[in-house]
Amino acid sequence: MARIIAGVASSHVPAIGAAIDNHRTDEPYWKRVFSGFEKSKEWMAKANPDVCIAVYNDHASAFSVEFVPTFALGCAAEFPPADEGWGPRPVPVVKGHTELAAHIAQSVILDEFDLTVVNKMEVDHGLTVPLNLMFGSPKEWPCPVIPLAVNVVLYPPPTGHRCYMLGRAIRKAVQSYPEDLRVVMFGTGGMSHQISGPRAGLINSKFDKAFLDNLSKDPQKLVRMPHVEYMREAGAEGIEMVMWLVMRGALDDKVDEVYRYYTVPASNTAVGHIILENRARGGKSAPARKSPAGKRKPAAARKARAPARRAAAARAKVATVRN
Ligand code: DHB
Ligand code: FE
Repeated sequence: MARIIAGVASSHVPAIGAAIDNHRTDEPYWKRVFSGFEKSKEWMAKANPDVCIAVYNDHASAFSVEFVPTFALGCAAEFPPADEGWGPRPVPVVKGHTELAAHIAQSVILDEFDLTVVNKMEVDHGLTVPLNLMFGSPKEWPCPVIPLAVNVVLYPPPTGHRCYMLGRAIRKAVQSYPEDLRVVMFGTGGMSHQISGPRAGLINSKFDKAFLDNLSKDPQKLVRMPHVEYMREAGAEGIEMVMWLVMRGALDDKVDEVYRYYTVPASNTAVGHIILENRARGGKSAPARKSPAGKRKPAAARKARAPARRAAAARAKVATVRN
């Protein structure tokens, strides 16, 4: 059975991609940004997922404003980098996972989420910058990546609740896939930013940090937040944060926050980043779990968690059978 082992959220600021491509990562301004992802790259190398699902938004690169699907799942074998005005970024072609993507499309659509199936698509900074932040700049991306594009550029975008519920449906789809795959889910975009109009340059760190706290511990506080609140508090482009709720919906209710980074600014944007692990993970290359002190938990504590683990296994079984 496939399973989602963790979720990663990260901003996707295009200037981060330009800093990498133009070899400027050692400049003090950019060093501050990239230093926050050193531990993340180590975490990712250890987690060593078989597949990633990347929830991101296209910025009129693959879809012009003539045609913007609300949710579009990349089911192709590969996704070349898009030309965003300065030629395509010099990053590897993103290889998809056609079987898992087709399975997710079937499961999620039969669960009444009307995804658009995309068999040919280029991917822009919205996807490739978070991949760089988590994997560095390898010759080939180390695992297949299934892109899930969400419309956050043309009104009306989907609600946070709809995004969260789509995450739930994706989790069910993944858990009903028979092969033993370990999947990491990316939520990308954000945090607070506004790139045009009288409020251009707006950043709201208080809002961003509360969002990170709730994403980690109490996502139900976020799922009913209306669009106007994102716009007012986090700027027009802050709406990108609804995509983080797809990632969060695909995780268990209770997760372990293993890493967080926040810095201001990168270009016009507050950079936020968090890594959340599901507690029931295990599997071939899962890193060893330790209590915070680095020691095994006392037997009583291990026993207390056993029913939760059994319940998680039972839930997974039900999802498999139902599908
Ligand atoms: C910026 C951020 C974005 O998310 C984007 O898509 C374009 C520009 C910026 O901060 O400049
Ligand atoms: Fe953006």
